[in-house]
Order: sequence, then C-alpha cells, then structure tokens
Amino acid sequence: MDKQASLIDRLTHRTALIGVIGLGYVGLPLAVEFGKAGFHVLGFDTDAEKTERLQQGESYISDVPDQRVADLVKAGRFKATTNFDRLSEPDVLCICVPTPITVTRDPDLSYIANTAKEIARRLRPGQLVVLESTTYPGTTREEVLPRLAQTGLEVGKDFFCGYSPERINPGSADSTFAKVPRIVSGVTSGCLEATKALYDSIVAETVPVSSPEVAEMAKLLENIFRAVNISLVNELKVIALRMGIDIREVIEAAATKPYGFMAFYPGPGLGGHCIPIDPFYLSWRARAFNVNARFVELAGEINTEMPEFVVRRVMEALNSQGKALKGSRVLVLGASYKANVGDTRESPAVTIMELLLAAGADVRYNDPYVPKLPRMRRSALSLSSVPLSQNEVGRADCVVIVTDHSDYDYQWIVEQAKLIVDTRNATRGIQCEEGKLWLA
Ligand SMILES: NC(=O)c1ccc[n+]([C@@H]2O[C@H](COP(=O)([O-])OP(=O)(O)OC[C@H]3O[C@@H](n4cnc5c(N)ncnc54)[C@H](O)[C@@H]3O)[C@@H](O)[C@H]2O)c1
Repeated sequence: MDKQASLIDRLTHRTALIGVIGLGYVGLPLAVEFGKAGFHVLGFDTDAEKTERLQQGESYISDVPDQRVADLVKAGRFKATTNFDRLSEPDVLCICVPTPITVTRDPDLSYIANTAKEIARRLRPGQLVVLESTTYPGTTREEVLPRLAQTGLEVGKDFFCGYSPERINPGSADSTFAKVPRIVSGVTSGCLEATKALYDSIVAETVPVSSPEVAEMAKLLENIFRAVNISLVNELKVIALRMGIDIREVIEAAATKPYGFMAFYPGPGLGGHCIPIDPFYLSWRARAFNVNARFVELAGEINTEMPEFVVRRVMEALNSQGKALKGSRVLVLGASYKANVGDTRESPAVTIMELLLAAGADVRYNDPYVPKLPRMRRSALSLSSVPLSQNEVGRADCVVIVTDHSDYDYQWIVEQAKLIVDTRNATRGIQCEEGKLWLA
C-alpha cells in the first residue's frame, strides 16, 4: 500500500493519531471532535498553562465542556503537550494557530511560519499537514509548503498538504461541528483526497475545491461578506437615527422579502478574532496584484468608526440631562464582542471604554462572562467586572448596553437606570419615560 492509501486507511479505521497545533477557540473544539470520533489526539500549544489545564481535564473554552475534555483524557484518547519534538508522532497535523494583523493592518504570518518550521524539523513520510488558520490565498502553497519541501520529502508522494478553513461560530448551539459543511483542498489531487478523508471522519459533508487558493479565498469571502453587510447596516443606522426611523423595524420589514435579502443587524462595531481582521488579509494581498479591495477598506472604515459614534450618543444623551461626559459615571454592560461568550478580542466594548475614559468619564463595566479584562492586542485596560447591583445601575449617570447577553434582565435594568444608551436594541418593547432610552 502506498503512503496515501495507508493514511486514508488509517483515517477510515480511526487508527491514525491526529495532531492539533494551537489549542484555542478553533483547535480545542477540533481536537475534541476527533477524540469524539474515536481517534487518539495529541494537542500542541506553546502555552504551558493551557496544556496543563487540559491534562487536568479542564477546558478554558466555553463551548467545550470540562467533562468532554476530562472523559477523553481519562480514556487516554487526548493528551496536550508543549513538547514540539512530538510533532513527528501524529499521522495528521492540523495547524490552528493565530493569524492576527500588525498595527499597520498587514498580515502577521509569523505563527504559521514558525509552526511550519517546527513541523519541517520533524516531518516524516506519510504525514498529512492541514492549515486551518484563516489567511490570504497563496499562504499554504507559498508559506507552508516550501518549508516542508525543504526536508527533501516530496509533496503528494512522501507527505501531504492541504487547506481547510474553520467555520466555527462560537457561542452558537445551532452550528454544531458535524453539521457545518467543510471546504477541503490539497496541493495535489492525492493531498486533496487525504484531506477530504480526514474531515469526512468528523463532519457530515465535505466540499472539495480545486486548490488551496480557492479554499483560502472562500473563507475570506465569507467573512468579507459579513463585514461589508454589517458596515452597510451600521451606516444605514446612523442615517435612520438622524431621520428618526427605527432601523431594526426597517430591517425586519425588509426581511419579509422571501428572496434576495439577508438581514444583518447594526451594533457598536465589529469584534472577535475574525471579521475585523480577516478582510485585511485580502486587501493586503490584493495590493501585491495592483488592485484595491475598496469594499473591504470602506467596510473597515465604517465599522471602526462605530465605537466613536456610540460615545457621541452617550455625550448627547448625558447632555440632554444637563450633564457632561467628563466626570459622569458610566456603566458599560457587556465587554465581550458578542452575546453569551467571554471572548473580548477586538471587542468594541473595550474601545468604547477607552474612549469614555479618555473623555474623562468614570467608567466601570459588568460582564457575567468576563470577570476581568484580559491583556489584549491593542489594549491593556485594567478593569474588573462590577456586580450588576441596584446600586451600580442606579448610581450610573448612564448605562451603555454594548453586548446583549441573554442573562441580563433588561426590564429590571431599564427600571433601575437613570439613562440608557442601547447599541443592540436589547430594550426593545420595554416602556420607560421619555428621554431615558437612547438607541445607538
Ligand atoms: N475564533 C473563531 O471563531 C475562528 C473561526 C474560524 C477561523 N478562525 C481562525 O483560526 C485561527 C485560530 O484562531 P483561534 O480563535 O483559535 O485563536 P486562539 O488565540 O484562540 O488560539 C490559538 C492558540 O494557538 C496557540 N499558539 C500560538 N502560537 C503557537 C505556536 N507557534 N504553536 C502552537 N500553538 C501556538 C495559542 O497559545 C492559542 O492557544 C486563526 O487563523 C483564526 O482566524 C477562528
């Protein structure tokens, strides 16, 4: 049996050892999914605290229950390590490391490059390496493959290399792993077959495409589609507010059209590791081909302005009660970038708090999912969540709803607060005295 057939055989019979590199929001659920499907899984991370917690059967990702990790560890089917010498052991290596942008919005591929170098040092015949990190078209072929090929091993014959983008939707019970179709690609047809066989073992449907570049760009299209549409409704929201029209009512009316319309909702700006960042991977790459990704840039501009818009609304709201933002006590509700998760990466709530602080406001926040703000790429705000008490809500000159967690009792919040700026329309349908509730 040649190496490809033998690998596919081991994947089909669940005897292959699966390696996952980068055990974060993408890598950990993936590792657990392979474990659930009956594989033995070896997870790699540079963060020793994470690997130790996993070894103790503890999860740090809210979508992955502790018990799931504990059961796999106990059954000997999942181990986590910082020892990269063990990269030679797995039959498959899935790369799930971060792909951030620099301060000048250029792609930072250092994590992928370092991981490819680490793998190359230990690459052995028969291994399949799949990149899952979101990135610009060309990364697998130009950044990962050459490093692996430097070993002298031949791709498609001695080892296999593919790209398969992750489509996880943190905090959503609807898009459970197995139900979401997977785009799969390979550098050669043999690589594609091996990559397809890998994901066929954990998802109901795989979608093979002709090259890694197509798969890489498809992932960017998905995220750019969201970024552009969100920026569009954010711009329309600003216009509608000036016109005294409720944009949410407009969207819901438009959404009754059974074809050709998809509803997106406005908010305080973009957050998370994907939508605010990934589009810039394409615009950067496009520049190398002498084309401008104008939609991407414009969407980025509009969405980046949203936190400032929210702060201006807070000023207007306070002003209507004869107060200046400077010196006012402002309680921000929600620090994470979206409802019901604890992820604060690129969260507009953090930018809003920074802007409020810079304007001299006395700022505090509450978030049941974020007890303390972690250190972030662009921010080192040192704040901890205050209790959502009658005292905190009642004493605030303004309460700003930034993240619409379902845990919040909005009726109670409206009753206790003196003034509310709601960026999510979370208070929809709640009656209160005129001038107390402001949409942003
Ligand atoms: N979070 C999402 O919802 C999501 C969805 C789809 C795709 N993605 C993409 O998946 C990739 C990973 O994102 P994430 O959200 O899981 O990031 P994350 O920050 O949650 O996890 C990355 C993990 O990689 C580890 N790491 C960093 N450098 C490493 C190295 N050299 N070797 C091994 N481990 C290393 C970190 O310690 C961390 O545990 C990114 O490209 C992202 O754009 C993320």
